[in-house]
Amino acid sequence: MTKPIAILNGPNLNLLGQRQPEIYGADTLADVEKLCADTAEVLGTSTTFFQSNHEGEIVEAIHQARHDASAIVINPAAYTHTSVAILDALNAFDGPVIEVHISNVHKREAFRHHSYVSARADAVIAGCGVQGYALAIQRVATLLKA
Ligand code: DQA
Repeated sequence: MTKPIAILNGPNLNLLGQRQPEIYGADTLADVEKLCADTAEVLGTSTTFFQSNHEGEIVEAIHQARHDASAIVINPAAYTHTSVAILDALNAFDGPVIEVHISNVHKREAFRHHSYVSARADAVIAGCGVQGYALAIQRVATLLKA
């Protein structure tokens, strides 16, 4: 049995479904957790799911993933655009890393166009809504098989 894929979510994503639904859609974070688990199951793997509004907790979740996870799918939310600490933690992780954004950050404000995390990510998915998480898990499965 391979290790699970760690799905990590940054600040304010706990409000998914309530927060700016015109940008982020109507699905809740619980819906995303189920989508990830169902997608992984079909592919013969599994997921763990984590969200935090605190940068240090996300760094620690990445450290934990060094031991417990085969890959990381991360939506760092606003920390995407600010966090060298999350980039450094991801650089200490050995497996595939996929960066996901629900919205198309490149269609939005200029400050969302730069991502620290993209310097480490093996792929970046933006603008596919919450389906981006499922696409990321499919990509991880392909990378882990290769
Ligand atoms: C986001 C995009 C970020 O710019 C924003 O701060 C978020 C969510 C997305 O999923 O589209 O909180 O990562």
